[in-house]
Amino acid sequence: MQSFQRSSKLIFAAFVLVGSLIAFLLSPTQASADPDHVTLTWTGDVRTTQTVTWRTGFTIKPGRVEYREANSLFPQGGDQMTAEVQGLATNVGNMSIHSVTLTGLKPGTRYLYRVGDGTSWSEQYQFTTAADYGQSFKFLVFGDSQSINYLAWRTTLHTAYMANQDVAFFINVGDLVDVGQDYKEWNAWLGASKGVIDTIPVVPVVGNHETYTPNRTYSMPKFFTVQLKVPNNGPEGLTGQVYSFDYGNIHFSVLDSQAGEERGFVPDMLELQKAWLEKDLKATDKMWKVILIHRPLYHNRPKDSDGDLREAFLPLIDKYQVDVVFSGHDHVYGRSYPLRGGVIDKLNGTIYVTAGRSGTKTYQRAMAKDHNEVFYNPVDESNYLTVEVSGSTMTVKVFQRSGFLLDEWSLEK
Ligand SMILES: [Fe+2]
Repeated sequence: MQSFQRSSKLIFAAFVLVGSLIAFLLSPTQASADPDHVTLTWTGDVRTTQTVTWRTGFTIKPGRVEYREANSLFPQGGDQMTAEVQGLATNVGNMSIHSVTLTGLKPGTRYLYRVGDGTSWSEQYQFTTAADYGQSFKFLVFGDSQSINYLAWRTTLHTAYMANQDVAFFINVGDLVDVGQDYKEWNAWLGASKGVIDTIPVVPVVGNHETYTPNRTYSMPKFFTVQLKVPNNGPEGLTGQVYSFDYGNIHFSVLDSQAGEERGFVPDMLELQKAWLEKDLKATDKMWKVILIHRPLYHNRPKDSDGDLREAFLPLIDKYQVDVVFSGHDHVYGRSYPLRGGVIDKLNGTIYVTAGRSGTKTYQRAMAKDHNEVFYNPVDESNYLTVEVSGSTMTVKVFQRSGFLLDEWSLEK
């Protein structure tokens, strides 16, 4: 009996401890006059611009960025640019989001920067602009980070970055958070990303969970688009969620697969994206074409779904010979055979990759399918990908968070 009581007490204590930790991690972080959530993204040329976004308590006074090349004294003689400020009402209070795109930067150059109101300033951060074309580069890809807490995301992101400090940016393929219109989630996600997202830009992809409200209704992903500024070149009604950009010899096209969730707001979203993607892929002359889309076009769920996405995008992917499509959503790592028209085509096929998971959520029921050359369900440990591009070679490596290599493959042009 005593042993039963002791066990019960221990279980209760563990329950309280875990509950407190979760409550702490998801607790509202009040915005203040001090900037936080300092985030790097791109809205312009990756060689000569850098977009910086951050948060303060509600104010109509726009913030400023002070910046200077890292090989000179800072902040003495730093240049300053004034941000655009946008008020944001959230379930944890009103706040202001400040964002500015630094322009006229030198390619391949490290800069120091800080954000503030012109009088008081944040700590000092740094970023490096992309080199001119022709140089090799590397980036990280993360599957869904949505979690009951964001310790797993923090650990996965920071571990991956520590092991690959030469990466130029990181991609998150969507479902960054569990409830996209609950700002507590963004406090946790952006807090966990601090130390990386202020040093290398994030390339964000919108997922279905970005559209969820605390009442389990759907919304356009406002908290995603207000914080994560991207090139303003998407179709009307989907700017901030659908976009494209070039880094080195890769052209990236980023799509929004949330037809079900966003249909009430943008009824013809797949038609709009089809027309946009056709123009976008036709216009690029880059060696590599890569698509980022949250829901995989070839998935690993027991029941078939997302035929509307395949119908919309597969003909264009085949027509323009897209090299790789990176996705998330299924929380597994899957690599397809090179596919064209749904059949293996080793010469002209596209590789479809599902990137695994960087948060806590797993799907035991996910299964390998005929399209998979490699399949791994990361139920035991989160994972990440590195992608290295050196001229006509693209090499992808897939690691467990602890460093074990799960898969390695490369494409040659
Ligand atoms: Fe998802």
